[in-house]
Amino acid sequence: PDPGWAETTDVVVVGSGVAGLTAALHLREAGLHVTVVTKVNIDDGSTRWAQGGIAAVLGPLDTPEAHAFDTEIAGVGLCDPAAVRVLVEEGPARIRELIRMGAAFDRNADGSLMLTREGGHRADRIVHAGGDATGAEVQRALHAAVRRDPWIRLVEHALVLDLLRAADGRACGITLHVLGEGSEDGVGAILARAVVLATGGMGQVYASTTNPSVSTGDGVALAMRAGAEVTDVEFVQFHPTSFMTASITSVQRPLISEALRGEGAHLVDESGTRFMVGQHELAELAPRDVVAKGIHRVLRATGADHVYLDARHLGREFLEQRFPTIVASTRAAGVDPATDLIPVAPAAHYASGGVRTDLHGRTSIPGLYACGEVACTGVHGANRLASNSLLEGLVFARRIADELGRDLPPQADPVPIPGAPGWVAAPAVRGELQRAMTRGAGVLRSADSLAGTAKELSRLAEQRGTPRNAAWEATNLLTVASALVASATARRETRGCHWREDYPTAADEWRGHLLTAIDASGAL
Ligand code: SIN
Repeated sequence: PDPGWAETTDVVVVGSGVAGLTAALHLREAGLHVTVVTKVNIDDGSTRWAQGGIAAVLGPLDTPEAHAFDTEIAGVGLCDPAAVRVLVEEGPARIRELIRMGAAFDRNADGSLMLTREGGHRADRIVHAGGDATGAEVQRALHAAVRRDPWIRLVEHALVLDLLRAADGRACGITLHVLGEGSEDGVGAILARAVVLATGGMGQVYASTTNPSVSTGDGVALAMRAGAEVTDVEFVQFHPTSFMTASITSVQRPLISEALRGEGAHLVDESGTRFMVGQHELAELAPRDVVAKGIHRVLRATGADHVYLDARHLGREFLEQRFPTIVASTRAAGVDPATDLIPVAPAAHYASGGVRTDLHGRTSIPGLYACGEVACTGVHGANRLASNSLLEGLVFARRIADELGRDLPPQADPVPIPGAPGWVAAPAVRGELQRAMTRGAGVLRSADSLAGTAKELSRLAEQRGTPRNAAWEATNLLTVASALVASATARRETRGCHWREDYPTAADEWRGHLLTAIDASGAL
């Protein structure tokens, strides 16, 4: 739609989680005027739900090389070593910056940072806050810093729609829909000298996810419509342990942090057997894809919809102190981790792929940058290592701000948007889409299951809605789900979190990346 109003800023940042707010704060340090646009309220994204922590080399016996090694093992041959090096070498400084900004991480009696371990890590290198409320503390600290700065304009309740481009193709702003503001249908524009996408993930393409309801793939869908390179979207990570009880009916499932296993909890089946022992040298602390697959095999064999996490031996006092968020959410559903087994099952958790960027967050469209979960910087490969996500947001957001602080072109005039769809999907398709994706493109996939899902998505795309937020979100979900299914169909191997029943092993000829694009006719 045509924008009914417009305002101008130096840089518009879309998204208000760890990546977006970090970018905004560092852009201000570079003296730039920043507008942050966010879909609902500033704290409604995935960041505040993160439990386990942030991985960084902070212990005396740890090294960047060891962190890089674990990251690349988890990524199964698809990590970009240069991006991983940036991540592990710059991570510690970013954590210290967060601390200076006011984030309070848990500490030992001697004042040193308390470090824990999660799946795939061979060292204790994960800082945490409030026990298992790390994301909430990071979000609180960044939010407070943003509120202190009058030169950061915050636009809440605003869904980004499309990228504005200058005649030379450069990104020069966005269109957005602000609830209750502007012209009749509320569509406006923010013109900017650069656009930073930090819109988070796409977990809502599945019927069961740890992601909040706002994670609808808006940034990837926008980038695809604009013709930016999008890659690795088949690699959606399933967190092995989301809380599974019948009383939780929302698509978003409470997370049971991997840190609980890091502190000694065991995965057991119906008969109490630790089924991960013998499957991997790290047993329950194997990389996430290995554990999710181990659980899935038990579920297929038994027909159950969950296995159990046994944390009883850790003791009531320890559990309450170290994992207050988990204890509160399980107790609210009548499960006490001090005395009961916790029912758990895999749920969609993290998009390892996204909008392709270089080491400075530049996408394939000049003037368009991406950081955080929406981006594919190359650090995650085929499967993200635990607690590398907040870290990636911190590290690459800062790099983008440094880059823009050095070199920001003047504002250009936008030309009419090509590629925006002439239609929007009916909001009601969201539930059907989620169920179809879980059935055919979830933890386990095959050519047949993916073909069935693709057919279902095409059918859903015929149901048209009127242009309002729920319809735009449904359109974005359809766009990213279709991209995911197309890439998962094309990749005829099993690698990391992409598990093909019909191609059960990794194959050398697939050791590369798939780009997904929409052509001029809107086809994938
Ligand atoms: C967790 O606490 O298990 C999640 C951490 C992550 O996603 O890296």
